[in-house]
Amino acid sequence: MNGVVLAGGLGTRLYPLTKITNKHLLPVYNRAMITYPIECLVRAGIKNILVVTGGNNPGDFLRILGNGKLYGADRINYAYQEGEGGIADALALAEAHAAGGRICVVLGDNIIERNIAAAAEDYRKQEKGARILLKEVQDPRRFGVPVFENGALQAIEEKPKNPRSKYAVTGIYMYDNQVFDFIKTLSPSQRGELEITDVNNIYIQQGTMSWSILEGWWTDAGTFESLLNASNLVAEGGANNI
Ligand code: G1P
Repeated sequence: MNGVVLAGGLGTRLYPLTKITNKHLLPVYNRAMITYPIECLVRAGIKNILVVTGGNNPGDFLRILGNGKLYGADRINYAYQEGEGGIADALALAEAHAAGGRICVVLGDNIIERNIAAAAEDYRKQEKGARILLKEVQDPRRFGVPVFENGALQAIEEKPKNPRSKYAVTGIYMYDNQVFDFIKTLSPSQRGELEITDVNNIYIQQGTMSWSILEGWWTDAGTFESLLNASNLVAEGGANNI
C-alpha cells in the first residue's frame, strides 16, 4: 500500500500567514507541519509516499523533505495541484502513484499521538473497499461527521450544523483503486470543491466502507486555535520524535 499526503489548498483560515507560505510548511512546535503526516505513514510501514502540493512555495517541500530519508521514507514523489479543486481533486493526482493498488491518504494538517499500524493491518485484511478513522471530539461541527443507525455507518455529513454523532472523520483514509473512478463521478460542492466526504459516501452506499476508532489524541492544524493546540500537544511530549 502506497501513501499519499495532501498538502494543497489556500489555507485561508490561517491568513495572513498563508499569504507568504503554504500552510503545511508552517511550524507545529519544532517541525514543519508536513513532517507529521509523513511520519504517520512511515510508522505504519507505508514508506513510498506521494506529496500533493499546490499554491505558493511548492519548491520548499522538496527543500524540507528531500528524498524522505530523514523521516524514514523510502521515497517521496511530488505532484502539483492546479487551482483549488478540493481534497478529492488533489487525490486524483495520485492515480499513477497508486499503480493499481491500495493507498493510505493523510491530510497534511492532521497530527496524531500514536500510530495507525493496527488500522492499516485491518485494512490490508479487508477484501475490498475503504476504511476511515474516527475520533470522538468536543465539537464535531467543523468536520465530516458519521451518522450511525443501530451501530451501522449510514452516511457522513460534512460540517453539519446539528451533528448526529460525537465523532469526527479524521483526515486519514484508506482506499482501494475504485477511488479514482469514484472521484471522476463527483461534482463540485457548494464551496466549489470535490469533497472527500462524497467519495466516502459512495463507498458507504456500496457497502464496503469500514471504520476504526483512532487511539490517542488527534488534531488538525488548519485554524489558529487548532494550530496552537497541535503545537502544545506535541510539545507536551506526545507525538513524533524524529
Ligand atoms: C476535511 C474534510 C472533513 C474532515 C477534516 C479532517 O475538512 O472535508 O470531512 O473531517 O478534513 O481534518 P477541512 O479541514 O479540509 O475543511
